[in-house]
Amino acid sequence: MAAFTLAHLSDPHLPPLPTPRLAELAGKRVLGYLNWTRNRRKFYRREVLDALVSDLRAQAPDHVAMTGDVVNLAIEAEFAPALSWLKGVGPPDRVTAIPGNHDAYVRATQHRFAEVFSDYLRGDDAPNEGATFPFLRRRGPLALIGLTSAVPTAPFMATGRLGRTQLDALERILIKLSSEQAFRVLLVHHPLWSDSRPKRLTDSSKLLTLLKRYGVELILHGHDHIHSTMWFDGPDGKIPGIGVPAASALARGRHPAAAYNLLAIERDGNAWRCEQMVRGIGDDLRVQELKRTRLL
Ligand SMILES: [Fe+2]
Ligand SMILES: [Fe+2]
Repeated sequence: MAAFTLAHLSDPHLPPLPTPRLAELAGKRVLGYLNWTRNRRKFYRREVLDALVSDLRAQAPDHVAMTGDVVNLAIEAEFAPALSWLKGVGPPDRVTAIPGNHDAYVRATQHRFAEVFSDYLRGDDAPNEGATFPFLRRRGPLALIGLTSAVPTAPFMATGRLGRTQLDALERILIKLSSEQAFRVLLVHHPLWSDSRPKRLTDSSKLLTLLKRYGVELILHGHDHIHSTMWFDGPDGKIPGIGVPAASALARGRHPAAAYNLLAIERDGNAWRCEQMVRGIGDDLRVQELKRTRLL
């Protein structure tokens, strides 16, 4: 049987940012807006994102995972363009999305992501319910588990948190899946390890304990905007945790230009094989293969 291909992209930070209404510019958003107008808008480019997504679509993956930071300040005017952008990536049965910290930028609109993108993050067992986390979606050999680590934070902070309730529910899902032969993919916006206190997942140690006990095959995250592979303890060996650059980014400093991963997954005897192909933006917005490596 042919391998199942899962594409992973993250952090589109959808440009351009609509001009916020005055009433929306308070607290953390003032700083975020200044950062956008002075800095970020030069490096997050719609033409980059469009080139990346068109290459991704041409690769015709079986499924796409999008790990958050679709919008920037979570102002109301960002959400309709963001939904139409995601529809351009693919329909809800072919694309799974989770929120990032920018999608829950302030308390007033932190619920909007789950409302607007509900079709893209609804679990298979909850067709009529609103979005709940964690959710479980089965596609081919995959069991996709979506978490939210997106919480509003103080200015200059971009931490994430899962919370006890979500972790308890995750444990129940992992127990259920442990008796099956599924390729378990955990989607979470924040990486499970960070050397940056203001950007870290504050309760990652509890998640790592669950993964060590029950395992998953693969962890996909965003947030750091860099190519990244980290290995975490599972019950039968190490679990790869993969991060990607921002999907709209021009290269800047230590942050590489936009890229996405294609993961080819197949059963090989009693084990899983997973090959990672990295495709990224080069000169003239041409997307090319940057790397190919076997993860499992
Ligand atoms: Fe981001
Ligand atoms: Fe983020």
